[in-house]
Amino acid sequence: MTQHLTIVDHPLVQHKLTLMRDETTSTKSFRQLLREISLLLAYEVTRDLPVTMQTTKTPIEEMEAPILEGRKLALISILRAGNGLLDGILELIPAARVGFVGLYRDEKTLQPVQYYFKVPENLEDRMVIAVDPMLATGNSSAAAIDLLKNAGAKNIRFLCLLAAPEGVARMKEAHPDVPIITAALDERLNDQGYIVPGLGDAGDRMFGTK
Ligand code: URA
Repeated sequence: MTQHLTIVDHPLVQHKLTLMRDETTSTKSFRQLLREISLLLAYEVTRDLPVTMQTTKTPIEEMEAPILEGRKLALISILRAGNGLLDGILELIPAARVGFVGLYRDEKTLQPVQYYFKVPENLEDRMVIAVDPMLATGNSSAAAIDLLKNAGAKNIRFLCLLAAPEGVARMKEAHPDVPIITAALDERLNDQGYIVPGLGDAGDRMFGTK
């Protein structure tokens, strides 16, 4: 993956995203759409996974057929909204290892503080896909990637549903080596740090907490 930012403009992704943005979409539908869209985004983010040839016998004859190479992927959910993307991707890649990073924003310093960190072993040998639906300021995403790099990860990509230009810029400055894959790049952040036009609070909408 050579580009820093990839926007997945597939019509199915864009259609589902529009339904998710709609304020009248129910929690149930929002969750279902997120699951469906995450399958499509997973397809794109894993496009260049290395494959190796394996001798396979079909009912007709033996052939050399491609199969995924090496260690499994590590999927890292940035809590809590990351879990919505994670579920769908796991359906497509059920053997992937899974980790979780929990960060909250300190009210005084406004800096991200870690409250949970549990990731698979041997991150240095895996493709690591960090997932969080909303790339807003980019502060917590950049901090999560710092933690993953400290744990040994070298080949990291960041998968989100929506990105703000501010978040993309912050990530590019902090982690130019981490490609971002998103369904859309929106206009800006508002004063409360929400993506505009966005879809509101992704965690609240997927878990029905508001
Ligand atoms: N997190 C969200 O859930 N929504 C935004 O718009 C920004 C950050």
